[in-house]
Amino acid sequence: MTDKKYIIAPSILSANFARLGEEVEEVMSSGADWIHFDVMDNHYVPNLTIGPMVCKSLRDYGVKDFIDVHLMIEPVDELAADFIKAGADLISFHPEASRHVHRSINAIKDAGCKVGLAINPATSLNVLDDVIEDLDLVLLMSVNPGFGGQSFISSTLNKISKVRKMIDDSGKEIKLEVDGGVNLNTIADVAKAGADTFVAGSAIFGTDNYEDTISQLRAKIS
Ligand code: DX5
Ligand code: ZN
Repeated sequence: MTDKKYIIAPSILSANFARLGEEVEEVMSSGADWIHFDVMDNHYVPNLTIGPMVCKSLRDYGVKDFIDVHLMIEPVDELAADFIKAGADLISFHPEASRHVHRSINAIKDAGCKVGLAINPATSLNVLDDVIEDLDLVLLMSVNPGFGGQSFISSTLNKISKVRKMIDDSGKEIKLEVDGGVNLNTIADVAKAGADTFVAGSAIFGTDNYEDTISQLRAKIS
């Protein structure tokens, strides 16, 4: 995926959708590593966002960067396949939204895409026990999924450390991504607890100078 120690993944949920291609170009040329692409269906979560056509439009527009798709949808399999065709590099889904988690993971991998499992604040880590070795990434939610701009739930820090240990024990190269309320005040603790991949929506797109903000975020974790 990348050898970089820390990945900054701006969530386009907080971008200006009327000029999404330019927003993506701007944030990537400001030092971001991945594009975090939040998909909501007004069913698994109460909000409604963007689908595979928008992912394909970004590719057609010329975006070559790593697109990290976060599915907050139910069911998972059909749209995951559509996102792979639309150019996604990695797809994460929530285990509650798939009847057969192992099957969904392997369908994504077999189609040549990287795969992650997204864990809500109240979801037990037990679900990882039997599948962690199949994953490229664990996406730990530090807010309840559905909206940008929420406050970081601090009990997640303990969970991050637990997942860090599970990943280290597995001996596999699995990224630990934290999503929700990551900003200049929280990112250092998130890194200290063991995360290596940081989603930030409002903390980046809510500022005027993306480059300044991204370098300030990086400074907090280096
Ligand atoms: C929430 C989404 C997040 C969200 C993060 O359901 O998965 O990716 O955009 O937004 P901030 O960084 O503003 O908390
Ligand atoms: Zn997300």
